[in-house]
Amino acid sequence: MANPQLADRLQIVSPSRTQQVTATVDRLRREGADIIDLGAGEPDAPTPEHIKAAAVAALDQDFTRYTVGAGIVGLRDAIGTHYESRYGVRYSRDQIVVTSGGKQGLFNVSMALFGPGDEVVTHVPGWPSISEQVKLAGATPVFARTHAEEGFELRAEPLLDAVTPRTRGIIINSPGNPTGALVSEDELRLLADGIRGRDIWLVVDLCYEQLIYDPSPHNLPGVLAECLAQQAVLVGSASKSYAMTGWRCGWIVAEPGVAAACNAVQSHSTSHAASITQRAAEAALRGPQDWLDTMRAEYRGRRDALAGWMADDGRFRVVRPAGAFYLFPDVTDVLDEEVRRTSSDLALALLTEAHVAVTPGEAFDAPGYLRLSYTVPMVQLEDAWRRILTYLG
Ligand SMILES: Cc1ncc(COP(=O)(O)O)c(C=O)c1O
Repeated sequence: MANPQLADRLQIVSPSRTQQVTATVDRLRREGADIIDLGAGEPDAPTPEHIKAAAVAALDQDFTRYTVGAGIVGLRDAIGTHYESRYGVRYSRDQIVVTSGGKQGLFNVSMALFGPGDEVVTHVPGWPSISEQVKLAGATPVFARTHAEEGFELRAEPLLDAVTPRTRGIIINSPGNPTGALVSEDELRLLADGIRGRDIWLVVDLCYEQLIYDPSPHNLPGVLAECLAQQAVLVGSASKSYAMTGWRCGWIVAEPGVAAACNAVQSHSTSHAASITQRAAEAALRGPQDWLDTMRAEYRGRRDALAGWMADDGRFRVVRPAGAFYLFPDVTDVLDEEVRRTSSDLALALLTEAHVAVTPGEAFDAPGYLRLSYTVPMVQLEDAWRRILTYLG
């Protein structure tokens, strides 16, 4: 007998290609290959000691039971304090929902706000989970393209041009994965002006908010509090800022009705983020933040080094990004008619022949590009670049 059918929605959802790279790296390493992983989207630093200590204390205190769905009060207040001290915007406890990672935060938002017949505008090159989650919610993603010649800057006009009578939401990510580009405060204001008072939500993924390397005004919560408070939803995360990717902690910040709706979705799926993780994330947000300065300085150095080597070589045409921890060069100059016809072919060859893992631009709807994460120590980054040059000849 044939297997029973999968749900129809699986026909339209693609598995995460970034996770596929991770799985291949894992397999090759288990087979003994010495891989330098520039594919992973996570900090290489270990979680800081004071954060781990808070988790150990939570365990010692048997803080291992169900918590309130929206998250423990201490953590929600710490998130509130984070926005107030960083951006001067105050959110009440009932505007904050803790989630199992920013990814789940975005998922809850899509499930709570979008459904069949709705269109949701987002940008490409972009992080694929955003559009896949929109599809899982039954809605249709619509794409506005950003361009290398403009540093992939997110501008209001192409996003607003993509709006139709069926548009129910716009989702943006700044700093962006994979481009590292930002939306400026002025462009965000223009975007807000274009949708204010309309039946359209603006969702802003701020998961890389603490990873901006050049002085660039980026008070997006401030702009939204001023001119779009009732329609704006923010999503944040402890993953990238505090080297806590495996802990799974993110959050949603929105007006209380939306926060309650997102919490309702969560109450029937994960219930809440892990109790121990919540205590750890509270320690992360309340604890010393100088660690972040050290990390930012380290990443800035790596970004500048890798971008410099690419510029010197000339074949990888790269825009130096303002934030996140990726470079996203145009690699069409090293493609050919035989073995490296596409950036996917190139990524595969780099993995199997140079033992350097990178993510092909195809994963972000940008063929012809590669994403390289500079989340390995400088010596490894140098080694990776040498391997790439040796492979390319
Ligand atoms: C753009 C973007 N948003 C959100 C996330 C979610 O991260 P997490 O679920 O670990 O908080 C990621 C992770 O890669 C990301 O790149």
